[in-house]
Amino acid sequence: MEPLPVDPTSNEIATLRAHLRRHERLYYVLDAPEISDAEYDGMMRQLKALEDAHPEFDTPDSPTKRVGGTVREGFVKVRHSSPMLSLDNALNEAELADFDARVRDLLAGESYSYVAELKLDGLSMAVQYEDGNQSGHAIMTRAITRGDGQVGEDVTENARTIRSLPISVDTPWPKFEARGEVLMSRTAFERLNADRAATGLELYKNPRNSAAGSLRMLDTAQTGLRKLDFFTYFLLVDGQPALASHWENLQWLRAMGFKVNPNVVRAAGLDELLAFCREWAERRESLSYEIDGVVAKVDSIEQQRRLGWTAKSPRWAIAFKFTARQAETVVENIEVQVGRTGALTPVARLRPVVVSGVTVSNATLHNEDEIARLDLAIGDTVVIERSGDVIPKVLEVRVRPADRRPFQMPDACPVCGSAVVRATGEVARRCLNSNCPARLKESLTHFASRSVMDIDGMGEALVDQLVDKRLVSNIADIYQLTLEQLLNLDRMGEKSATKILANIETSKLRPAARLISGLGIPYVGERTAQILADSFGGINALSKASEAQLQTAEEVGPKVSESIMKFFAEPHNRELIERLRAAGLQFECEIRNTTSFGPLTGMTFVLTGTLPTLSREDAKARIEVAGGKVTGSVSKKTSAVVAGEDAGSKLDKARGLGIEVWNEPRLLARLANRESAPSAGAPE
Ligand code: IVH
Repeated sequence: MEPLPVDPTSNEIATLRAHLRRHERLYYVLDAPEISDAEYDGMMRQLKALEDAHPEFDTPDSPTKRVGGTVREGFVKVRHSSPMLSLDNALNEAELADFDARVRDLLAGESYSYVAELKLDGLSMAVQYEDGNQSGHAIMTRAITRGDGQVGEDVTENARTIRSLPISVDTPWPKFEARGEVLMSRTAFERLNADRAATGLELYKNPRNSAAGSLRMLDTAQTGLRKLDFFTYFLLVDGQPALASHWENLQWLRAMGFKVNPNVVRAAGLDELLAFCREWAERRESLSYEIDGVVAKVDSIEQQRRLGWTAKSPRWAIAFKFTARQAETVVENIEVQVGRTGALTPVARLRPVVVSGVTVSNATLHNEDEIARLDLAIGDTVVIERSGDVIPKVLEVRVRPADRRPFQMPDACPVCGSAVVRATGEVARRCLNSNCPARLKESLTHFASRSVMDIDGMGEALVDQLVDKRLVSNIADIYQLTLEQLLNLDRMGEKSATKILANIETSKLRPAARLISGLGIPYVGERTAQILADSFGGINALSKASEAQLQTAEEVGPKVSESIMKFFAEPHNRELIERLRAAGLQFECEIRNTTSFGPLTGMTFVLTGTLPTLSREDAKARIEVAGGKVTGSVSKKTSAVVAGEDAGSKLDKARGLGIEVWNEPRLLARLANRESAPSAGAPE
């Protein structure tokens, strides 16, 4: 546990850490959050401020250590406590049956059972924990990649940024090791590649490569941004499984707070094993991460021991591999699609081919640089890969026939004919006509989508008609649709038209953050929109913010701030905003950019002179933790000046403006919340 509290600050730090750990577990391991991201971030900032002001209470297992920040030159090689071997493969059901027959043979008639798990398509990692002072509480001491199985690389700092991997654990063992798989979800992978495509970086091939690259970033803060996940499947004490059965080991890992994949079963024999394999071969695309098979392990550790190992792999386990989701086909044409920000995306039209049960006839090519990288032309035979619901992609070119036709990105928008521009530093060509019907349709569908304004019934089919019949030419027009107009559309009865109008009406109540993401400002997705809403309290302040002010918001850099400035500077966007305001949409929300709420929330302080016990940094940190702000100069907006000995001109200015002047005891009293109303009490 935390060291015994010796002073109120250490107590506060310990409490914050305990809360944060609990909420991390609820969010990242159990997928059942109890508080909002903003509340979590607020708590994290409070803890960071306290730790910065009190380095004496710093510990390596603090949740703040998850953000990373060290930049290194390379990774140190470390030998594994026991080798990390790999598994033998069964490439079909017959080979799985052979494996089972071998096990049965070797166990000479004893009864046995299996644990069947998903074969996660990531990279394996060993994580060591130690409970130095035998307190029942161990902390992560080292994380090592698999490497060649004998020697891996020390990636401890990077592993700490994986939120689903506990960095401190309650445990009966003074030393243990957890082994498992580092993964990147498909959405995180797609997002990362979209970002990389936008900035002209080479794309990652698949989530596994991307997870491997992300875990080995020299700048650990970068790993932290990559959203890796860790599923644990081995619990080793002194190099051996800790408990008598693999199943129990998994239960213990789960109880200690590790993330254990929920899709595991105890299988009594081959038939149940086969059923599990068939089930997941069907269902694999429903998962948010990639799997490439099923792993079957003999459950009893004693039987595992007797079955033993070959030089390369255990005799008690096997990997049943799913059939590939790749196929070869011919690129019959390359067409160009226009997205909502005007970006032109080349798409390969393929000779239809069946890949793991689904007919594929299109694959995304991302941008012209990707086509150049693949050296792809029309007529080529390519390898394509399909994963989940994402659009299939071209992995490589197999055959380049002599009569292949090279492809050129167009100079004009294929939909509206306007000129297309590729800005410096961008990989995408964009159609700059904001009235381009293709852009319009995409932006309206985005606006109405579930995670934005959630207008049920306004999908692609309706949007196509609304645009083609010129009933809607921007998002504000949605709020002027009438029943008559809707009734004139194909396949639209009175009942559904009324319902859609009601849904449009309710969408006016969506919070400002959603509206911001619905505006279609380039580089402002859902997350950034939420941050902007929290920081500026809605669209009014956001539209007036300067570039510097915009950049004070978290994760907003020059690219995003420039894009926002440009958006609000456009006269037709201003007009659009005014029409949305007139329609009664939500423009304002609460500001939640400082720390979470405390006794000083909403108050601004200026510090001057030497306080009797608190240092300047200390006082500042405490005020911030309590929700207040500290600025450098006195103005009418200052709530109080906290003055100590040898206070100078700031004190005079405060008196001149009639601003409250506090001494340290008064500040401490307020921090301890002994006065309630923010403006109670006369100036000292
Ligand atoms: S057990 C000695 N269980 O597959 C046995 N491995 O070829 C070690 N993997 O290197 C592995 N999911 O990276 C095991 N549920 C699972 C797994 C799994 C994925 C990977 C792991 C290992 C490779 C084995």
